Formats: sequence, structure tokens, C-alpha cells
Amino acid sequence: MKAVDVKGKSRSSQRMSEIQPFHVMALLARARELEAQGRSIIHMEIGEPDFPTPQPVIAAGIRALQQGNIYYTPALGLPQLREAIADFYLQRYGLRISPTRIIVTPGASGALLLALGIVLNPGERVLMSDPGYPCNRHFVRLFESLPVGIGTSAATGYQLTSELIAQYWDTSTAAVMIASPTNPSGTLLDQENLRRIVEKVQALGGTLIADEIYHGLVYQGEAATALSMSDEVFVVNSFSKYFGMTGWRLGWLVAPESHVRDADKFAQNIFLAASTPAQYAALAAFQPDTIGILEQRRAEFQRRRDYLLPAVRELGLYVPINPQGAFYLYADCSRFSNNSEAFASEILERAGVAIAPGVDFGGHEARRHVRFAYTTSLENLIEGVRRLETFLHKI
Ligand SMILES: Cc1ncc(COP(=O)(O)O)c(C=O)c1O
Repeated sequence: MKAVDVKGKSRSSQRMSEIQPFHVMALLARARELEAQGRSIIHMEIGEPDFPTPQPVIAAGIRALQQGNIYYTPALGLPQLREAIADFYLQRYGLRISPTRIIVTPGASGALLLALGIVLNPGERVLMSDPGYPCNRHFVRLFESLPVGIGTSAATGYQLTSELIAQYWDTSTAAVMIASPTNPSGTLLDQENLRRIVEKVQALGGTLIADEIYHGLVYQGEAATALSMSDEVFVVNSFSKYFGMTGWRLGWLVAPESHVRDADKFAQNIFLAASTPAQYAALAAFQPDTIGILEQRRAEFQRRRDYLLPAVRELGLYVPINPQGAFYLYADCSRFSNNSEAFASEILERAGVAIAPGVDFGGHEARRHVRFAYTTSLENLIEGVRRLETFLHKI
């Protein structure tokens, strides 16, 4: 029941006042407004692939609906899909993961919620990189726990290190969240640093939650999975990005065997199960023909990155290290502005290019950074850079 105040009006929890909306959403709304007025806008603000879901997946989804596959699945997910995901770990990483440890969720978002809900007590601290994926700190707050953003820079590839974790650890710290490749900078944790983090968190008695949603979208080096280093970590992944299924709302969590019963009862209570048609559709996501399509797209993302990275540097925006994955560039814009929000808004209004302000990803040097998403065609990126060149020369 909704709480009602003395004047009879619905009220909001204090938690709501602590949750920030994405600035980029306001920017996107303004971009749509300008488009409705006839302006052309180049979209580099959106963190989702511009490619449609691969055809074999769509066909499997339609078949599922036609065959009446619309009833709840078990809370842990469709058994065939859990097996298909386990097989994917064997094919991709040469790792044997028991399907019993795989929990199908409504997106990586559902997996993050499950993992945090299983692990956290009120008042406990969770370490994470700042900049980082903005929802993480709000997820942590949902469980009455404390997100601790650790300022990271290009010096550590915008990633936590085992030294930073040791430095910020205290007796009330329960968990560490990492992502590789990461949002907003697209940087990877290499095998050695990941191993050191896994070992450090375990030595400190904490829990590691590794977000591997951008695995598969790697253009340089290799993304190591935390699962190859320990069975006692929580690994989050999703069909959203590499598989091009953002709106289907489907992801997964790999949990330590000892936490699967908790995951089951928690999933039953918070979302019952992930979408049934989406789960049937995802059975086609690992087929060779689908993987063929996805690998072509990965090559296209790489082409875009290889164009945009030098072009953005040429514009005078500083990108200190090469992003190895995802579809983002995180650029220092301080040569032009120390207010990324105002800068992004001015670029939108005057140059017709939409990018995300750093303030969406935390507080650490956020006002001097912006994020470019190369989730639009190479032609659009070239046109966007041309417009930015004209605009920035006037500043
Ligand atoms: C690092 C990271 N984790 C999780 C998510 C949420 O993804 P999903 O659509 O699978 O819920 C995103 C979405 O942008 C993300 O960037």
C-alpha cells in the first residue's frame, strides 16, 4: 500500500530523492524534440547496439509465442537455456560451469539485483569504480547498503586494482563490483589484474560481483572471465549487448553453488521468472548462424572504434588509453569545458550531436569527461565528427 501523508497525498520514500535520473535521458528527450522540429541529430549518447536482434532469434521468439510458450518458467530459468549458457562457457572459454549455477534473469539488471540482494546486509559497504555504471550505486542503496565509489583514472584503466581494494577495505565492507570491459570507458581488466582482484577480495573475506555484459564486444586483447579464477564469485552477463537483445530483457547470473537456493527463493519473490518467450528466443542465440551474424557486428563495431578514436583525439578531446571493448569512448573535454553537462547540451543544440555527460557515471572528474557511444553507423560517426570539428573550432 502506498504511504499517505496527513494531507492525503501520496508520498515518496527518502530513497527516491537519493536516486538520480540519467542526465542522458533528458538529453535524448531534447534530441527527439529537435528532431521533431526537423533538425538532424547524430546520436552517440545511447548505450545500446543499433543492430536489430538477429533473425534466427526473432524467428525462435515468434515460434515460442505461436506454440503457446507464454507460461512462467521455473524461477531459475528454462532448463534448456541454462544448459545452452553452460555450453557457451565451454565453447567460448573452455570452462565447465554446471548449469545448476546459472540463473536466467530479466537482463543483467535482474542479475545484479539478485547477487546484491543475496550478499548484502544493511549498512555494509560495496566498493566500485567511479566512473562506473550508474545503476550499481542505486542497486546497492535499495538494499540499505552503502556504495563506495573509488575514483579511478587512466592510470589504472579506469578499473579498480587489488591495491585500491585493500586501501578502501574496512570491517564493514562486504563486496566489490567490477565490470570488464567497462562502461563508460570500454577498458578491460587484463587476466593478471583480474586474478589479483579475485584473490584480494577472497583474502579479505568479501564477495566479488563481476559484470561481464560487454564480453563478446572486445577488439583488442581478451576478456578474461572471473569464473576461470574462482567458483566463489558472482558473474553477471546478458543477452542485451553482444546478442543485440536489449528490449527482450534477458540476462543471467552465475552464482556459487552454495548460493543457488537463495537465488531461487529470491528470484521467485522479486520477479517470479524472466520472460518466457525471450528465453525460448535466446535458445537460438548460440547457434552457429546467429554467432556468425554477431561476429560480423563485432567487426563493424571495431571498424567504428578504429575510426572514432583517432578522430576524437584529433578534435582535441583527450582519450588517454585505447578502449579495448564495449562501444564507448570516455574523453576528457577539459580543453573546452569543465562542465560536461553544459558542454553536452551545447553540442546538442549547436552542433546537432548527442553525447553523454560524464556526470552520469559518478562524481570523480565527471565534469570534465564525456562519453561517446559508437552505436550508430560509420557514416553517421563521420558526419558527427565533421559537425564537432566545425563547432569546436568556434570555441
Ligand atoms: C555495465 C552494465 N551493466 C549492466 C547493464 C544493464 O543491462 P541489461 O540490459 O542486461 O539489464 C548495462 C546497460 O547499459 C551496463 O552498461
